[in-house]
Amino acid sequence: MASNSAKQSGDASIESSEAQIAVHWGEETKVAPPATFIAQANLADPTARDRFSLERFPECFKEYADLLSWDQYWHTTLDTSKAPFWKWFVGGRLNVSYNCVDRHLAKYRNKAALIWVPEPEDEPAQVITYQELYQRVNEMAALLRDFAHLKTGDRVTIHMPMVPELPVTMLACARLGVIHSVVFGGFSGEACGIRIADSGSRVLITMDGYYRNGKLIDHKKNADIAVATAEKEGQKVDTVLIWRRHPGRKVTDAALIPGRDHFVDEVLRPFRGQRVAPVSMPAEAPLFLMYTSGTTGRPKGCQHSTGGYLAYVTGTSKYYQDIHPEDVYWCFADIGWITGHSYIVYGPLALAATSVMYEGVPTFPDVGRPWRIAERLHVNIFHTSPTTIRMLRKAGPEEPLKYDLHFKHMTTVGEPIEPEVWRWYHQVVGRGKAVIVDTWWQTENGGFLCSTIPALDPMKPGSAGPPVLGIHPVIYDETGAQVPAGSGKAGNICIRNPWPGIFQTIWGDPDRFVSTYYRKYNRNPQSTDWRDWPYFAGDGAMQAADGYFRILGRIDDVINVAGHRLGTKELESACLTVPEVAEAAVVPVQDEVKGRLPEVYISLKPGVAASPEVAEHVARAIETQIGKIARPKSVRIVPDMPKTRSGKIMRRVLAAISNSMDVGDVTTLANPDVVEQIRTMVQGAKPAPAQPVPDDIRRFGQVE
Ligand code: PRX
Repeated sequence: MASNSAKQSGDASIESSEAQIAVHWGEETKVAPPATFIAQANLADPTARDRFSLERFPECFKEYADLLSWDQYWHTTLDTSKAPFWKWFVGGRLNVSYNCVDRHLAKYRNKAALIWVPEPEDEPAQVITYQELYQRVNEMAALLRDFAHLKTGDRVTIHMPMVPELPVTMLACARLGVIHSVVFGGFSGEACGIRIADSGSRVLITMDGYYRNGKLIDHKKNADIAVATAEKEGQKVDTVLIWRRHPGRKVTDAALIPGRDHFVDEVLRPFRGQRVAPVSMPAEAPLFLMYTSGTTGRPKGCQHSTGGYLAYVTGTSKYYQDIHPEDVYWCFADIGWITGHSYIVYGPLALAATSVMYEGVPTFPDVGRPWRIAERLHVNIFHTSPTTIRMLRKAGPEEPLKYDLHFKHMTTVGEPIEPEVWRWYHQVVGRGKAVIVDTWWQTENGGFLCSTIPALDPMKPGSAGPPVLGIHPVIYDETGAQVPAGSGKAGNICIRNPWPGIFQTIWGDPDRFVSTYYRKYNRNPQSTDWRDWPYFAGDGAMQAADGYFRILGRIDDVINVAGHRLGTKELESACLTVPEVAEAAVVPVQDEVKGRLPEVYISLKPGVAASPEVAEHVARAIETQIGKIARPKSVRIVPDMPKTRSGKIMRRVLAAISNSMDVGDVTTLANPDVVEQIRTMVQGAKPAPAQPVPDDIRRFGQVE
């Protein structure tokens, strides 16, 4: 395969980076946005980039902040005095639920704010107008304040599926200045319990059950596990509020614990019709925590701000999602991830959008489901992940053509998208008439970092695009030298400047915040000049001569499964809870649909015989401690782990075996023979032919 880098620069000296960027696609032809889209776009003014140039930083972000209603305007746009703990819009006060709900009532009272589509197809969609949302948010806020005794600054953990009660609960928290921590509904009770304890929540809000793939899942039982786990970790939960999927009907077998557990529909009754004045919050007060995986074991609670975050997601929703109040916008993601917070709830509702939520899986009851939803609701903006797109394409490549679809705009987020998958999305789903934005960003970032401006920039399949307005990336090599801009050489992507959506800290662990994201390329730890603090994203990337960035994947030991980050250390500690297991190592393997899957290697304690049961226990331990999304592709029991002489497990070697790569020089290992034994076990007697592998797998286990 020809080297992209060589093709772009014509420079043979950069051949060495070819191995690094041996991704499975080449340079792609660009596609211009259609005139029909440009004619109606929120941002079609080519001077926008000048308005957000580095010279205009940080004042440029006033343009986003001015999309909000402030109780009190700020006096300082960016305060860097405690670098890198940036403060945006200092002196300003506002309330997020007011901005997402109340302020729209005058004009849009009777317009759909949320349209919720239940998974069972015979259950009708629920349309929640802004007026209805206002009522529900107020009643829930009253309950949280007067029944659950929550006050400004308290944390509350929410472990709920995709139902409208979830955004209602989040907005009710925001109304009071209570910091919510939403844990993805598919995470296990134990994973939820760890996050409850880390955030110090004494209240858990959950649901009795929900539909997934045609089955009514008992979710309440997870709450009991979560509370027990939190208690083991030293955090007592005194109140569990349980929304009911079918009020009055028995959905869960788990009993209610008297005094602790309450059905929300019952305890909400006395609060019917109540109003709660929105609490005017300082712009830099935390709005929510969102946990994500890192290199070391414990998940990180990313703390997002009130004013900066809301300004950033509102601005990017307007310019990059091109949301107008009259659009029907469907972000097919889960609110339990950052995408759902920013681009199902906060950004769209701040713009008075109609935001569609779907409860279930894409292929229930068949692969036509998403397209039937889009047709019936006349969705014109669609937003989802490459994994969902790959799944829908694989199972029903012609299916979208059977429906009357009218997308003007489509988004892809969370993982690199292969150009052939992109083209299917563009031609078959979008009928060649929709603009596509590929958006690169992370839980820590609040909103997009790289994307094309839909009406201004041509699309390039497989590339996230130029940096978004006000974001100024740079690529550094391991030594801290800048990789020349537009050289097509791979390196570590960083953002030079702070932006309003950036998280404020890791909850309870400011040192880890600084060391993970800033230490690597910091020029002076004492400096209060933002120029000395590039943000280290942890992704490999290259910038082509046209300025577009291609994201090559994680450079740390984080596995991106279906667009969701799983820490290898978290998975490994789950394996080690199985008593027979002595050592565990987790590596990523390529998967046609989900991008990457974890593959587990374990060695057993002396005297324990290998058996399929032990392997199954390990897979199950991962499911119960993390969640089904983390289920490994396989669990391989090996006689010993490949190790250095100092006893360090060589995950790089295992990743090479799992992905049919050359294992490289293993002669310096303490036990080189075991490598061939494991290779035979995985690939059979004859070595599998070497495959081209993406950058993140090639680099896996190499960064210490
Ligand atoms: O490796 C990048 C990948 O997903 C990681 C962030 O994951 P998470 O925090 O779960 O947030 C996902 C949704 C914002 C990044 O470090 N990633 C995200 N978007 C893209 C991507 N890789 C390639 N292209 C993208 N568009």
